[in-house]
Amino acid sequence: MQIKWFGHSAFEIISDERLKILIDPFISNNPSCTIPVEEIEADIILITHGHADHFGDAMEIANRTGATLVGNHEITLFLSKQGFETVGMNIGGSVQVQNIKVTMLDAKHSADIDFTEEVISGGSAASFLLTLENGEKIFHAGDTALFGDMETIIGNIYKPDIALLPIGDKFTMGPFEGAIAAKWISPKKVIPMHYNTFPVIEQNTTIFSNFIAQMTPNIEVIILNPGETYSE
Ligand code: NI
Ligand code: MN
Repeated sequence: MQIKWFGHSAFEIISDERLKILIDPFISNNPSCTIPVEEIEADIILITHGHADHFGDAMEIANRTGATLVGNHEITLFLSKQGFETVGMNIGGSVQVQNIKVTMLDAKHSADIDFTEEVISGGSAASFLLTLENGEKIFHAGDTALFGDMETIIGNIYKPDIALLPIGDKFTMGPFEGAIAAKWISPKKVIPMHYNTFPVIEQNTTIFSNFIAQMTPNIEVIILNPGETYSE
């Protein structure tokens, strides 16, 4: 399994069976991403919410690759009006997409589709739990505040192995809240995201790592640079 970070909340996960899953593919307007959008391949594209920095290049990439687009009901309604084949779902549900189980879970954030001429309702912001073919579970928190169900539902019920958590502050959790989220979700490994893309969300990852070391030293923090891949 490989997890590649494009910067911000954009990740490519390649499963052991070589399935390529893109999450929040903010590529061409992403200041921290140096990879041209034309080089991005995907089998499945997941969109956590309708904001431009998450929806990103989803339509362009799906057009070119034929990837399956997965999002909430409102996002997939919008996409199907543009002619795309989609898998629409909602918070609390799971779908099987190719060999991957995708579970949509909660996030506390706003979620309208903000890049169209007039803002369109985007439903609720979400997070995703992916269960890969080998049973490994990867949680992408999307944009979110800290909330109690991270412990009672995401941690206790779904038990992710790896959690991707925003730490940029201002629009999402900061490093302190992110470390508490990690404690509550209790994965084996955590990868911070949604920071250093823009000056307003600049963060020093050492602060996040130190909070984790103090609160839950058993959780391994993996810091990626944009373009870097974590493999296991
Ligand atoms: Ni957002
Ligand atoms: Mn965002």
